[in-house]
Amino acid sequence: MDKLLIEGGLPLCGETSVSGAKNSALPMLTAALLTTEPVTFSNVPELNDIGTMLRLLAQMGVKVDRQGSTVTLDASGLDQPVAPYEMVKTMRASILVLGPLVARMGDARVSLPGGCAIGARPVDQHIKGLQAMGAQIAVEQGYVHAKCRRLTGARLFTDMVTVTGTENLMMAACLAAGDTVIENAAREPEVVDLANCLVAMGAQISGAGSDVIRIRGVERLHGATHRVMPDRIETGTYLCAAAATGGNIRLTGASVSHLDAVVDKLMDAGCEIVAERDAIRLKAPARLTAVSIRTAPYPAFPTDMQAQFMAIDAVADGTSIIRETIFENRFMHAVELIRLGADIKIDGNTAVVRGVAQLDGATVMATDLRASAGLVIAGLAAQGKTLVDRIYHLDRGYEGLEQKLTALGARVRRVR
Ligand code: EPZ
Repeated sequence: MDKLLIEGGLPLCGETSVSGAKNSALPMLTAALLTTEPVTFSNVPELNDIGTMLRLLAQMGVKVDRQGSTVTLDASGLDQPVAPYEMVKTMRASILVLGPLVARMGDARVSLPGGCAIGARPVDQHIKGLQAMGAQIAVEQGYVHAKCRRLTGARLFTDMVTVTGTENLMMAACLAAGDTVIENAAREPEVVDLANCLVAMGAQISGAGSDVIRIRGVERLHGATHRVMPDRIETGTYLCAAAATGGNIRLTGASVSHLDAVVDKLMDAGCEIVAERDAIRLKAPARLTAVSIRTAPYPAFPTDMQAQFMAIDAVADGTSIIRETIFENRFMHAVELIRLGADIKIDGNTAVVRGVAQLDGATVMATDLRASAGLVIAGLAAQGKTLVDRIYHLDRGYEGLEQKLTALGARVRRVR
């Protein structure tokens, strides 16, 4: 099991690039199931989760051609509309094949993803929406089995904002008979990027990015090419790493327009941030000011940036309150940060963080993707050596992590 050895206490300075967005590429790859023509995606990040999704699609009969960050999928030979447990259990985003498979094949068997470290993460809204569109759905032996000769457009309302729920239902509605309205839809930029890709494939969608998305079903979709948007969470993660280490960095290929809530909080913490046309720069103050955050659906502060910001507040001047409102168990990084010397008290979905002048390196364990990122940031800020264990979590969502951190002047090394 790989570990990351970090020599902390150095300010991050320099320049590196941002990769394509994992949470945009994943639903986009499943959108290729909606057509018999080839779909080509560029700027696809080379991540373990992407590899898992491509293997899942290939075992369904999809032809996969991957040349670096360009992926072409041809689902004309799709003949096995099944997502088996062995693959789904390693990546919950596999549930994103459900909507497209029902819409394209009229039949789908997708393993329930099961819980994960940060929460139960049920998929009841995905199922409820497809049933409203006419799918017969049975949940048995841990699988969702959905059947429907052709879905019918419907007015859908999700009980809570769900990103992949919105994406699944939007994709299914593209081939339904009639009009579908999704109310209380997720407004995340990745939903908009997916909608743009579907429109390029011939779908009729309006309102993506707002909480009401309208889809007019069409008979079929055609091939297209689409470029995956930059990863806003990866961007925010490196900005937080620079902020926590008193650094000065430039990120190319980054778009600041999807990070307003994070940029605002970094500026409140004392950072200078400059947005260029296709890059973003951050200069950190000598000591950060503690800043409280409350996670919520876009455009509010993203839950996927909560762990990274807790690492910042751990070394900031003052006390901050961190409220996690999306997932029920997304503070597992707190106990690991405490091992580095952080002063954090957890009470339910609230964390009280008292900034300390200095963290000291230690061995810590990653528990989930974004928690690991928070630990890396804390390790970069801490004096001395930090060894982060189980960094396979990081490899799911951060392309070329050591290379990019090294480009920014960090002393990090992967140890087997
Ligand atoms: C997406 O997960 C992201 N993953 C997550 O990023 C992100 O943290 C999350 O959205 C919130 O922004 C991808 O896009 C692949 P939700 P998703 O459905 O869609 C509850 C990362 O680090 N819910 O928006 O699974 C759910 O339990 C990952 O890259 C139901 O109860 O999240 C949660 O409490 C982690 N029933 C809340 O809604 C449902 O049917 C929001 O979940 C669906 C969701």
